[in-house]
Amino acid sequence: MADFAASCNKYYLCSMGSGNFKQGHYTDPEYKMFELENVKFRDILTVDELKLKAQRVTCIVGKSGGGKTTLLKLLNNLISADSGTILYKGKGIETYDPVALRREVMMLPQQPLMFSGSIRDNFGKTLRFAEREAAGDAVYRDLLQQVGLKLPLETDTMNLSGGEKQRVALARVLLLQPETLLLDEPSSALDDETEDFIIRMVVDYARERGVTLITVTHATSVAERFADVMITLFDGKIQRVETLKDT
Ligand SMILES: Nc1ncnc2c1ncn2[C@@H]1O[C@H](COP(=O)(O)OP(=O)(O)OP(=O)(O)O)[C@@H](O)[C@H]1O
Ligand SMILES: [Mg+2]
Repeated sequence: MADFAASCNKYYLCSMGSGNFKQGHYTDPEYKMFELENVKFRDILTVDELKLKAQRVTCIVGKSGGGKTTLLKLLNNLISADSGTILYKGKGIETYDPVALRREVMMLPQQPLMFSGSIRDNFGKTLRFAEREAAGDAVYRDLLQQVGLKLPLETDTMNLSGGEKQRVALARVLLLQPETLLLDEPSSALDDETEDFIIRMVVDYARERGVTLITVTHATSVAERFADVMITLFDGKIQRVETLKDT
């Protein structure tokens, strides 16, 4: 535990869970998780300067095709910038082992894919692929409850609705307890009431555990209600960065 704490830059509180549980609190409230400078990805996205502080809720909004997904993908090195620098915890993002990086900075894609089989199989395979210890049904049921699903673990994911799949996919990501969560429109398939419930849950989750949450949302109203920082992207450029809450 001491070694783990020492290995986490400015990380002083690490709750223990299964596997590489890496959630805690930074002593420096200004600590930057990501710093982007003169970043360019093809002719799709240009970011002159952007700093994202740890343990904040950041919402990215903007019209379709504006570059929101592209920005998220740059943050866990799913794609690489053509020029400029992206620092993660003060070091060039390209210097991290991509697999190790994506275990800390986990992205929920806009259209998540399910593993074949039941919800239980999905949770089990998620842990196995991440080389984590197996967990039991109690943990899985608790996660389902967190995402507001009252379904048996035996349910075949083939038969889930789009919104149910989205919530199982979110639960799978939460199961892995990443330090930074990149969510790409996690509520796009949900009705307004369920969207509100899910975003509130994930924001509370992040705040309680010191997780850095960066989420794309189509609804500016959602961002205005929940975000500490709102980034508006338009036509591949940052149009505005607004601090809505000073935390
Ligand atoms: N790998 C790629 N090759 C070519 N064009 C791409 C690639 N990835 C994205 N694009 C284009 O870049 C632009 C931005 O895409 P991106 O997916 O980042 O937008 P977005 O803001 O997430 O949109 P949406 O709200 O529809 O999800 C779009 O015009 C898209 O077609
Ligand atoms: Mg997108």
